[in-house]
Amino acid sequence: MLFFGGDYNPEQWPEKVWDDDVALMRQAGITMVSLGIFAWSHLEPREGEYEFGWLDRIMDRLHDGGIRVALATPTASPPPWFTLAHPSALPVNADGVRLTHGSRDTYCASAPAYRAAARRIAAALGERYAGHPALAMWHVHNEYGTDCRCDLTAEAFRTWLRDRHGDLDVLNEAWTTAFWSQRYSDWSQIMPPRATQYLPNPAQVLDFRRFLSDELLGAFTEQRDVLRSFTPDIPVTTNFVQGGWVSVDHARWAAEVDLVAVDHYPDSAGPGAEEETAFAGDLARGWGGGSWLLMETAPNLIYTPGRMHAKEPGRLTRHSLGYVARGSRGAMYFQWRQPRGGAELFHSALVPHAGADSPVFREAVGLGRALKNLATTADAAPPAARIAVAWDAPSWWALQGAGLPAADIDYLAAVRQAHRALFRAKRQTGFVFPGLESFPDSLGAYSMIVLPHLYLVSDRAAAALGDWVAAGGHLVVGYLSGIADPAGRIRLGGYPGAFRDLLGVRAVEWHPQPPETTLLLDDGTVAGRWAERVETAGAATVALYTSGVLAGAPAITRREVGAGVAWYLSTGLDDDSLERLLGTVASEAGVGPVLEGLPRDVEAVRRDDLLYLFNHGPVAASLPLPGPAVDAVTGRPLHGAVTVAGGGCLIARLSAV
Ligand code: GLA
Repeated sequence: MLFFGGDYNPEQWPEKVWDDDVALMRQAGITMVSLGIFAWSHLEPREGEYEFGWLDRIMDRLHDGGIRVALATPTASPPPWFTLAHPSALPVNADGVRLTHGSRDTYCASAPAYRAAARRIAAALGERYAGHPALAMWHVHNEYGTDCRCDLTAEAFRTWLRDRHGDLDVLNEAWTTAFWSQRYSDWSQIMPPRATQYLPNPAQVLDFRRFLSDELLGAFTEQRDVLRSFTPDIPVTTNFVQGGWVSVDHARWAAEVDLVAVDHYPDSAGPGAEEETAFAGDLARGWGGGSWLLMETAPNLIYTPGRMHAKEPGRLTRHSLGYVARGSRGAMYFQWRQPRGGAELFHSALVPHAGADSPVFREAVGLGRALKNLATTADAAPPAARIAVAWDAPSWWALQGAGLPAADIDYLAAVRQAHRALFRAKRQTGFVFPGLESFPDSLGAYSMIVLPHLYLVSDRAAAALGDWVAAGGHLVVGYLSGIADPAGRIRLGGYPGAFRDLLGVRAVEWHPQPPETTLLLDDGTVAGRWAERVETAGAATVALYTSGVLAGAPAITRREVGAGVAWYLSTGLDDDSLERLLGTVASEAGVGPVLEGLPRDVEAVRRDDLLYLFNHGPVAASLPLPGPAVDAVTGRPLHGAVTVAGGGCLIARLSAV
């Protein structure tokens, strides 16, 4: 079975609407809903007094309708009574302002009162619904990521720091506290980063984000363990959210959830949305080790900066199946029914304000039918990728700091661009995680790896990459990689520190470029954003800078190392140039496109014996199949070339004939 459904908030509606909901869910082929995510004030209206009657009734009704439930613990939004009774559990921001209720996520994960209340409500739900036949999954909390800088957090931060650094001198060294007289002579002097007169200590900020990730993980595992004590066989998950503000290292968290669940919202109205969908799906698959679930996305809008964009017909289907192609165990949405009020009253839904007589609901019905027919593909092996891009949350955090050589350094944009170039070059791509213990063992699956802005790297991870190249790997190192150790201390002797010897280069100074500057390299490559004065020491020069103070100096280099090759890009290539270069490296590494001759607008994903074809353009495309097949949705036999309508998609099961 593939999961198909979304956040369902019956507590926002009179009970007479519930029967309609279940009937419409059946019509759309909904298989699971996420229930009660923000229902704490309805479940526990006063401390210790529970009202489960309404939840019993809707759980039963859903079960009668054949719909499963991912039952949430509502701890992302404590009720007003809680915050008034426990003001010390409200979060405090970096300016020392204590926030108040009236929105959501108003809690401090280090506050004992909050943690105890969260465990209590989780236990109450665990006890009550342990045997309920609709219960398919536990959905703990919602999008962990809340930041707090209060005194309770300060205490917890110090405990975490003692654990990490052991000795205060070690911390002083790691944080370079000799700079600006910040040397600590007692643990109690250390604070979470709060408002300061001038730039904060970057190592302190970085450690705080690591701490917060661990602290929030502790809040999750505590609830998970409570739930497991009632239902050892029901999977427990929480929905990961990805954003620059989120201090959660999902690659690490993945080991603690039974199923990686991800929320994803593309932010581009044009074809960028499809590229982002592919990026998010590949990254989630990497976190999940193959299997994951799209827990929330918007059915009928794309949040572009400052404006909501309604999806064109077919886009809901292509996006949803795009995640499924990349290993998702279904497609879930925020949300089932669009609310009449509340802060997110215009966020889209499967049942919009207009009601079920609407394009989005009709498309959902068709999608539900397709997903039902694809049920047998749910356990297909995830897409195999021989190319990977590196992802490292701490490098992202470090590059969000102040005092960097350029204010517009953007880690996420760099990683997305590398993935996008491979997507456009029609190569199937995965992710590797240099911060994980298992990183060296993960490398064997790949023939090519790209490191965009891998700013922090351990000696161990760098050495593993060196061994992998010598054994035949093709490595592409982007600028701002290998610069610092995991504490954020610069690796001396020239950039890119950890990879200097492997690449056979030494960069002696940086020349960050204004965004409007174009740098033309002598082989026609179009670059910008960044430049470096690079000296080669064993590497061959592939392209030279042609203008400015760096004219005639190496910009792109290549070094053969044992059976492999290590490339260095000391500048930011534009999209077309990066696509060309990564396509060339991929071919050298023996990795071809998913399908030869694909038009620009057509995306192909190979998953086991399934070939997913998505036509993101407006014009029908005729595509050659690699062999006889059947349409996995309709069962229709397919021979030779197939036509995929503009905006349409087709899933061919290749081995079935
Ligand atoms: C995330 C959250 C939802 C909602 C949507 C809005 O998915 O989990 O509660 O806020 O974003 O886009």
